[in-house]
Amino acid sequence: MIVDRQGRAFRNLRISLTAACNYACTYCVPNGKRLVAAQDELSADAMARGVEYLIEAAGIERLRITGGEPLVTPKFEPFLQAVSTLKLKDISLTTNGQLLAKKLPIIIDNGVRRLNVSLDTLDAEAFPALARGGDLKTVLAGLEEARQAGLKIKVNMVPLRGQNLDQVLPLLEYCLEHGFELRFIELMRMGHLARDPNGFQQQFVRLAELLEIIGAVHPFVQADAPIDATALRYQVEGGGYFGVIANESVPFCRTCSRLRLSSTGWLHGCLSSSNRHFVGDLLDKPRHLALPALQRLLVKALADKQDIAFSGGVTVMKIIGG
Ligand code: 5AD
Repeated sequence: MIVDRQGRAFRNLRISLTAACNYACTYCVPNGKRLVAAQDELSADAMARGVEYLIEAAGIERLRITGGEPLVTPKFEPFLQAVSTLKLKDISLTTNGQLLAKKLPIIIDNGVRRLNVSLDTLDAEAFPALARGGDLKTVLAGLEEARQAGLKIKVNMVPLRGQNLDQVLPLLEYCLEHGFELRFIELMRMGHLARDPNGFQQQFVRLAELLEIIGAVHPFVQADAPIDATALRYQVEGGGYFGVIANESVPFCRTCSRLRLSSTGWLHGCLSSSNRHFVGDLLDKPRHLALPALQRLLVKALADKQDIAFSGGVTVMKIIGG
């Protein structure tokens, strides 16, 4: 295992299966153009071998599959099948839910029990303006099917002033009713937002304001969270929880245990660093050659982590999937 001066190690791996996405959310892509897969994306096989090697070389215990949108690529099924046989404590999936109902059998048959579904508004008119793709009803139907199948579901919402701040309470109430845990994600200075501080500030909603909006209607108390959790958790009076990933207000870099692998074979040790380390060529090599080389790159990737606070980066979220 590789550990840094702060005692941090890589335990959680996020794999972006493809950069392609069937949405073009305003905070993710500036021009509204949907992303397609990069030409040089790795095969499902190579990515699964990447997970296998990283379990050994870095001590990865948990895997989250993201994108882009991971359910749009035909790699999803073979990749999931392959990684489901590896020694992992947990495999989870982040999706925008458009293809959720369709892919649910594959998801369940391969042992995925936890889903994060991105949903920024319940307003059918605001939805297309924000997501610029997909359809609200389809997401809600997918969520309902996944719930009935017994999956543990978190819903991700990025509150944005001028776009969906009026949806904080409706989304919270919807989640409480359905037994989902709502996760508010403070807007991060990623991609075009890293280059546009004014645009960022105009849209940014901080933890304190969010808690005020919620507390005015639903009293809550702070709940315990695991030591390397990124989210603050709150228990609502009357039952149910919500969380806030407060990148700006309460940075969690000190306990960050995440490693990211992009669909084109780059390792990222930190979302706010533009450093990345190419491992695509190592994944076709036998383990006795690949593992020592991987370990050298992992030391570098770990050194890319910030000490205390997330300062933002030009890396675009859709490439590495949050
Ligand atoms: N800031 C905060 N969250 C973001 N996401 C994508 N881009 C950003 C950003 N700039 C969220 C998506 C998804 C999760 C993986 O990351 O909404 O739910």
